[in-house]
Amino acid sequence: MCGIVGYVGPKKAEPILINGLLRLEYRGYDSAGIATMEKTGIKNVKNKGRVNDLLSMKEIESLEGTLGIAHTRWATHGKPSSINSHPHMDNSNSFAVVHNGIIENYAELKKELEDKGYKFLSETDTEVIPNYIHYFYKNSTETGETKFLSAVNKTCKLLKGSFALEILCNDFPNSMIVVRKDSPLVIGTSETENYVSSDIPAILSFTKNFYLLNDLEFAYLTRDAVTFYDNNLNKIEKSVTSIEWSAAAAEKDGYADFMLKEIYEQPRSIRETIGSHIVTNGTCQFDGLNLSKEYLKSINKIFIIACGTAMHAGLASKTVLEQICEISTEVDVASEFRYRTPLVNDKTLCIFISQSGETADTIAALKLAKQKGAKTIAISNVIGSSITREADYTVYTHAGPEIAVASTKAYTAQIMLLDILALYFAEILGINLDKVELMKKELLEIPAKTEKCLALANEVKEFANKVYKEKDIFFLGRGLDYSSSLEASLKLKEISYIHSDAYAAGELKHGPIALIENGITVVGLLTVPHLVEKTVSNLQEVISRGAKTLIVTNQDLGDKDFDKVIRIPEASEYVSPLLSIIPMQLFAYFISKEKGLDVDKPRNLAKSVTVE
Ligand code: M6R
Repeated sequence: MCGIVGYVGPKKAEPILINGLLRLEYRGYDSAGIATMEKTGIKNVKNKGRVNDLLSMKEIESLEGTLGIAHTRWATHGKPSSINSHPHMDNSNSFAVVHNGIIENYAELKKELEDKGYKFLSETDTEVIPNYIHYFYKNSTETGETKFLSAVNKTCKLLKGSFALEILCNDFPNSMIVVRKDSPLVIGTSETENYVSSDIPAILSFTKNFYLLNDLEFAYLTRDAVTFYDNNLNKIEKSVTSIEWSAAAAEKDGYADFMLKEIYEQPRSIRETIGSHIVTNGTCQFDGLNLSKEYLKSINKIFIIACGTAMHAGLASKTVLEQICEISTEVDVASEFRYRTPLVNDKTLCIFISQSGETADTIAALKLAKQKGAKTIAISNVIGSSITREADYTVYTHAGPEIAVASTKAYTAQIMLLDILALYFAEILGINLDKVELMKKELLEIPAKTEKCLALANEVKEFANKVYKEKDIFFLGRGLDYSSSLEASLKLKEISYIHSDAYAAGELKHGPIALIENGITVVGLLTVPHLVEKTVSNLQEVISRGAKTLIVTNQDLGDKDFDKVIRIPEASEYVSPLLSIIPMQLFAYFISKEKGLDVDKPRNLAKSVTVE
């Protein structure tokens, strides 16, 4: 999705803005642009293509200003083109605006402006913003920065939808205004310069101190000050949030790709997630999560709501929550949940998972659950992200910045966190305490076992290199192996563009087996002891129809006709999803590499899906 960077300080803005844009590339985009404040006023340079294409434009060299805004665009309204790229300017070229989000009522606003004589150059929803700012500014009797702020505020009041905006005005050559609603934006600060970004990693090498804006709060930035206003333009105070992530954590650190680095970081990220919630005396701990025994006894359902991989993490933990806490648990896709009038009330606990904490559907689903009276917990990897500010309670995964579009270390950290949360609930409820202790012991062994799974990389690569040209690859599993199959299949399709589906193995005969033909590749996951025999029978059915099979297991399968068996460390079915997924992440990675694809930035995908 679109990325935003801004800078005001003593240094030349252009290299800082380009550096920030390059770090936001992973979010996905199709065009890029930059506007700086020059002695002659705002200078705007933009084009379709990559940030490096922008950098090679001649006009970039002439940008000397120390105040600027920049943008990577992920096309929504209008095709990728120079004219549709951001920044957008008003008709008089007095204001420059970059925008992340979608203005739902732009057609109506555009018509109103056209009636006032404004002309539009682009097909975007954004262009109404600089023009409306100009309209209010021109017709204002106010003076000074209040005039600028008030024109922006009046414009924001007209906008329906989501937006994170950076705005420059020729009359204020040393300042910029930023505002957000339902789209991410953070302000990095230091004594002599200030930064703006869609996310923290992009500006982590410049500062670790951030201001977090709530919806419809405005910030007026100069090089040595940031002043905050509410949506009535009353001044408000904000404190700085310091981020622990090191700048190096957002670098590739010698790995060929961020995805590979993040796969290999899993022993550490899982260890840190455990360390934060299982304290040295062995009890589970969630600071700030005030859920009493009476409350946990009173709830009749837990809902886990998320998108994509985060939703799969929910599926992997549903069984644990149900078996250990004895609370019925439903997992739903956020975009379905929000539109299907779910049965949620004050007896429902809703857990929302989002690595980025900025996923539009997950945030909307969270708002809906709150309206219906549910208690809400956010699980996120990003401190201060939108979801964490909406939920009643927040718990953080400690995965560190995840840059590759395909989520890996966030997934295993999410499962680990949910599993510990289940144990914590059971401890409060005082139930199944023997199972709790056994599982805790197993969870503590996971980081070392994860390392063993990573050591299987060469075996996985060998099989991946045999099948990378396939058109379809299917995944089969039962129980928790089915949830892991869904995630394995998502990983593969995301970064290899091979068509892939995951099936509950028992469903094979109800349709999917019709797809099995000679030479097709089928991957079987087998870690649930009481279901192994049944899945093996299903695999034999596909083998007898000519399928090549790759098996991931920690069970004794006897002497079978599988093409390749990857043996992962022994573990109970509850924790096996944390292990079986690792060879599957590597499988997707090696196939993508062998096909020569961009592993970290797969086509059409964005890291953070901030629009619906
Ligand atoms: O930031 P979130 O966890 O809310 O993101 C949810 C999905 O967009 C995300 O998991 C997506 O499916 C990944 N690309 C999967 O690898």
